Amino acid sequence: METSIVLSFLGLIESRARASGAGQDILRRAGVALWLSGTLACAARPPAESAASPAASEAGAPSLSEKYAPLFPIGAAVDSGSIKSHEAVLARHFNSITAENEMKFESLEATEGAFDYSTADAMVALAKSHGMKVRGHTLVWHRQTPAWMFTGPDGAPASPELLLARLRNHIQNVVTHFKGSVYAWDVVNEAILDNGQWRTANEPEADQRSPWHGILGTSYVAEAFKAAHAADPDAKLFYNEYRNYIPEKRQAVYAMLKQLLADGVPVHGVGLQCHLNIEPSTDPNNHGYFQTVAELEQAIQLYASLGLEVQVTELDLSVYVPGVKYTPDQFFTAETFSDEVQVRQAARYAEFFALFRKHARTVTGVTFWGVADDNTWLSEFSSGRKDFPLLFDMKHEPKKAFYAVMDF
Ligand code: G3I
Repeated sequence: METSIVLSFLGLIESRARASGAGQDILRRAGVALWLSGTLACAARPPAESAASPAASEAGAPSLSEKYAPLFPIGAAVDSGSIKSHEAVLARHFNSITAENEMKFESLEATEGAFDYSTADAMVALAKSHGMKVRGHTLVWHRQTPAWMFTGPDGAPASPELLLARLRNHIQNVVTHFKGSVYAWDVVNEAILDNGQWRTANEPEADQRSPWHGILGTSYVAEAFKAAHAADPDAKLFYNEYRNYIPEKRQAVYAMLKQLLADGVPVHGVGLQCHLNIEPSTDPNNHGYFQTVAELEQAIQLYASLGLEVQVTELDLSVYVPGVKYTPDQFFTAETFSDEVQVRQAARYAEFFALFRKHARTVTGVTFWGVADDNTWLSEFSSGRKDFPLLFDMKHEPKKAFYAVMDF
């Protein structure tokens, strides 16, 4: 409620009270209470668009990371371009970064033994220049890992001994290189399927197959954590996964982690990717059916019961509903990303952030998978579909979702 409205309302009360002879203090208290709610509302609401310099209103907005500093760091995934092009909003509202692709296997060791840290080092240096923390993503994943890793000298699949030696060599080199710069690593990413089974080398879809499991079975997970811990005993080591809100997947991840801990494997936390949507699916056969605060809370509590910390590692909130088939004419555009949709997105973000705050003793970080809507993997699909999943818009302006997340 604009301050001016508040003030005229105060005037009205005053005249009414005077007419009715009400005492000064009632007047004063009513006035103060009203003024306060108006001011708070104003503080949390987006200021009127300042046509002058868009950055002004972003600069005028309270800082996201400062607001959350007493609870947990707020991070963003950046690439070698966006860390510069989005530096203003990044430096103001975030105090942690994750390299979206530049610390992945194919980026750091494209050919065996030839490590190239140049791009990642530049990103780390820029982050450090803003006093930001750096999360490492990711050492072992079934994607973005060069084929040579799984191929033996004769072109046949690599032997378990060869793959294990290459795994240890990669992790030892990479983790040692970033020691003291990277405080936490996603050591293993996405080893469990939505149905709770291990991801194997025989999955129907090629890009879902795990050559790691194909050659080393489940042992590659423990080996990766042991190698990472040996290289940097101070780094926090995470198992990172998506759709932890699906009951059987959540339970399977829990069982795997419980066994790793029982075997003395140094695992310190779980990464909940949290690629969320504007509403859950109504189809019980769709993963999004379980995408609720209640189901995600169970994952946080389950993993915390093992003494593990939890981080939200790849948060975004798509404006598309899971399981719904959208035709190109139904794809959202900046024009059709209406106030009504933005209000729904803001409400959904608010309820998940309320959950993260509620469990701030377990949740030790929240990272968005991008900085602003003009640079998101969710708008890079071959369909050309655009998405608006983050807290800052195409012009890096704070959205309604930003103010909703800040409103506590
Ligand atoms: O580097 C090549 C470039 O040389 C080439 O010109 C260009 C054209 O195709 O492709 C570039 O590689 C792209 C790479 O991102 C770097 O931009 C790949 O095609 C593209 O597939 C890759 O997408 C990344 C995706 O992981 C790969 O699976 C996304 O940016 C990244 O946001 C996404 O992140 C993953 C997390 O790591 C794990 N969890 C899910 C999340 C979303 O899929």
